[in-house]
Amino acid sequence: MTQSTAQVHPAQAPVTDQPMLVVDDLRTVIQTARGPLKAVDGVSLILRKGEALGIVGESGSGKSVLGRTIMGLHRTEGPITVTGKVLLDGIDVQALERKQLTELWGSKVGMVFQDPLTALNPVKKVGVHLTETVRKHRGLNRAQARERALELLDLVGIPDSRRRIDQYPHELSGGMRQRVVIAMALANEPELLIADEPTTALDVTVQRQILDLLDRLRAELGMALILISHNLGVVAGRTDRVAVMYAGRVVETADARSLFTQPHHPYAEALLAAIPDLDEPPHLRLAAIDGSPPDMSAPPPGCRFAPRCRYAQDDCVAVAPVLDGPGGHLFACHHPVNAGSLPDERGER
Ligand SMILES: Nc1ncnc2c1ncn2[C@@H]1O[C@H](COP(=O)(O)OP(=O)(O)O)[C@@H](O)[C@H]1O
Ligand SMILES: [Mg+2]
Repeated sequence: MTQSTAQVHPAQAPVTDQPMLVVDDLRTVIQTARGPLKAVDGVSLILRKGEALGIVGESGSGKSVLGRTIMGLHRTEGPITVTGKVLLDGIDVQALERKQLTELWGSKVGMVFQDPLTALNPVKKVGVHLTETVRKHRGLNRAQARERALELLDLVGIPDSRRRIDQYPHELSGGMRQRVVIAMALANEPELLIADEPTTALDVTVQRQILDLLDRLRAELGMALILISHNLGVVAGRTDRVAVMYAGRVVETADARSLFTQPHHPYAEALLAAIPDLDEPPHLRLAAIDGSPPDMSAPPPGCRFAPRCRYAQDDCVAVAPVLDGPGGHLFACHHPVNAGSLPDERGER
């Protein structure tokens, strides 16, 4: 990859059918004191340009490790082994040198993390966070970088940007800080934004505002989006497709409408039933699914959800189901729910 490839503006990129992202049989194994932990265990995904994908699953299902591995933050080094492929607009992320990877961050792909506080340096002003990012990638002078920073603050809906730019992170509310973090991720117009639980640390009203902001930015900038959440409700209505993860694997993926109206994996069905009603006070919101995800350093054989599944039969414990299904609605289950909508051979119970 040459430097210029990484810095092509999306609007100038040649129109091709090349997917924005191809993830092929990705495995991220972390060495822990208790042995190897398969945090991501054979995930394959395709994301088209401009498309929005929701990745959903309970805490510990491997969503963040997947996001970080796609970014190239987890590489085969130290206690972490990555196998499989990640192609970002055709670029093999695992094959890049450090320096090339840094060029890729920002220009092709940006990431927003859950906690805006850890992403911001408390002793640096808002503007410095942004100007450092744009100067590094674009070679702008000081004044140009400041203008670009103001533009970015306006873009993410921060009012009074000329005052805000000279404030420190602690002078901003949680929602405003998250807007700054999003502005940083957008500074170099990435073609793909990975937002990992971008609103979990925020209160409900602000959550909606930030999610609406991501929606608007995606439409305005034409970028692809991966929205990661433990809550299916967060991705509802905001993504074209959804992938449900459980214990390091995708157990169901479909266009959002099919997944929400006709989930086939009992885990997806349970997640749907567990969508918290954000308008209820927290103590009235629906409880999580009974039981807990498996210990990922020793997952159960067969279907990993079987121990918690109310439909499980003997074959579920014996044989791991493969991800398959009709018309792009894929699920890994021997005994799918809502089977009436499936062709006969998959629908038998
Ligand atoms: N640096 C790490 N060291 C050890 N285990 C980790 C590390 N990062 C993640 N894990 C483990 O990998 C699994 C997946 O974690 P994660 O991707 O953070 O889940 P999620 O984002 O879905 O909540 C969990 O079992 C978690 O404990
Ligand atoms: Mg996470």
